[in-house]
Parts: sequence; structure tokens; C-alpha cells
Amino acid sequence: MASDTDGGTGTRLSLPRRPRRLRRTEAMRGLVRETRLSRESLVYPLFVCEGEGVRREVGSMPGVFQLSVDEAVKEASAAHVEGVPGVLLFGLPATKDLDASAAAAPDAPVQRAVRALRKALPELIVMTDVCLCEYTSHGHCGILQGEEIVNDATVVLLAKTAVSHAEAGAHVVAPSDMMDGRVGAIRSALDRAGFDQVAIMSYAAKYCSAFYGPFREAADSAPQFGDRRSHQMDPANVEEALREVELDLAEGADIVMIKPALPYLDVISRVKTRFGQPTAAYHVSGEYAMLKAAAANGWIDERRAMLETLTSLSRAGADIIITYYAREAARALA
Ligand code: PBG
Repeated sequence: MASDTDGGTGTRLSLPRRPRRLRRTEAMRGLVRETRLSRESLVYPLFVCEGEGVRREVGSMPGVFQLSVDEAVKEASAAHVEGVPGVLLFGLPATKDLDASAAAAPDAPVQRAVRALRKALPELIVMTDVCLCEYTSHGHCGILQGEEIVNDATVVLLAKTAVSHAEAGAHVVAPSDMMDGRVGAIRSALDRAGFDQVAIMSYAAKYCSAFYGPFREAADSAPQFGDRRSHQMDPANVEEALREVELDLAEGADIVMIKPALPYLDVISRVKTRFGQPTAAYHVSGEYAMLKAAAANGWIDERRAMLETLTSLSRAGADIIITYYAREAARALA
């Protein structure tokens, strides 16, 4: 038996603290666990396309599919049964053009999916990504003048898009474009249209990241020229992230998001500590793809690596975790 004293003489050994006492059994570890990853935190991103009965796997994201509305309802329903409370929708429109006209169209895939999901799954939280990059022919997140994205004209379209999502029944709209002033513009457009109960989850600190690569295949949204450095953040900056979050909160964001997740744990932690507001972390496509690829090679234990990763996001301060692993995590946490 482990003892703090030496063989009954009562003399204290040189180790006054023995942290291992609380690590001896799973029950003991459970008792003192500081972070409890919960299914209630999970949001499951879905890519919705045209057609019926479509379920097309994304090459760089095993287990992730482009889904027609009917299939998206099936997928969301399966996720919901497994305990995932919410989905975040991205759209693959039939046509793309210079003004992203399909973004705010009432019969585009996202708007139709929102209506179908609200009808089929009344308890599910339906969130929508608000950005133009999936809808523009050039794949940029806004209206171009030459090669420059024009901020304020883009914001007008984003607000219109958000209202169309709210009209379809979205509970939460999530602007991911990183244009200046879009949270305020979306808030007033929603309020004017009578949607004061629709929440805004802003991608407040969205970094210009290499980890979005697989998503751009999934959403068919890779820019045809250039990159997103003029609006997404420099990975080297954290003070700037705090300023972005402060601005978005002042403009009316209900939830602030940090994205990607794992390479930015310090940002999550500082945002949560500084503002104490509902905070989301987006475990993005490249983060998912890395785990999947390593697991497929037998190099890591996928279930453990997944849970360790998602736990770290929660430990850093994320209340909401957006992840392509939502279903697998929910099953593991059941
Ligand atoms: C933009 C958007 C992107 C992601 C979410 N919203 C891509 C980008 O900024 O290029 C990335 C999500 C991921 O990588 O999983 N609509």
C-alpha cells in the first residue's frame, strides 16, 4: 500500500503531495475531471447541394458528403438522434455569378434545407453560414472591383442573404466573410425585417489559414486568383483578434467564433477570458482531414485523438464546438 509515512515510524517522506492518488482509477479521474466535453456543445456542418438523393463524398474529407436537401434532412436527423443539437449549413448553388445572386435566393439549397429541417426536426438548432464565396463565379467572398473586394457593397448583399436565411427559418446566422461592419448591418437588417430573435454567431477571429483547403473542395469555393489575405486575419496576431471580437460584440454578435481551432487555442482562451461571452471554435476541414489521414494510415488512435482534440477546445474556453466529427464525437460521448 502506498503510504506517506515510512513504515510506521511516523516520519514524513520528502513527497508531501502525491497527485497520482487522484489518477488511480477511472472513477477517481472522473470525479476530479475539470473539463467535461459534452454532446450539447456540438454543431455539425453540412454541405447542401441541388438535386435529390445526392450523397457525394468529399475526397479530402472522408465521411463528409455534399447532400441534396432530402439527404441533408436524413443526415441531420441521424445526428440529432445521436445527440447533436445543431447543424451549420453551407450551400452549393446551381449557378454562380459575379453578384452572387443565388446567395439570397429563397429557393437556393440552403434556404430550402432550412425550411425542410425546421419542419422535420423542430428541436434542431439550424445555423447558416453567411458568405458569398460559394456563390461568386470567381470564388471571392464579395463583390469585386478589379481584383479588390469592395467592402460596403458586399455587406449589403450579406445582410440580404442573412435575412433570406431568417425568412426560411434559421435560428442563427453566421457571417464568415470577415468584411468590416457586417455584423451591425446584418443585425439591423434582421431587426428591420422582424427577426429580432434570430441570433448572430460571427466568425469574429477568422484567420487566413491553410487548413481550409479541403473545405474549398467540399464547398467548391476556392478563389480563382489571389487569396483571402485582404480580409482574413494574419495567423501571427492575437491582439487583433481581441479587437475584432470587441467590434463584433459591439455590433451585436451573440456568439463569437475563433477559426481554425487547434492552432489557435491561445486565441480561444484569451477571447473567453477577456469577454466572457458565448464562444465557439471551428475545428475546420484541414484539422479533420489530418486526423482522418493519420488514422487511415494506422498512425494514430482516431477516437482518442478526436476526443483529446475536442476536449482541448473546450478546456481552452470554447462553449460551442463546430466539427465534422460531431456525429462520431456524439456517439463516443453517449
Ligand atoms: C467561407 C468559409 C470557409 C470556411 C467556413 N466558411 C472557407 C474560407 O474562408 O475559404 C472553412 C471551413 C473549413 O475549412 O472547414 N464561406
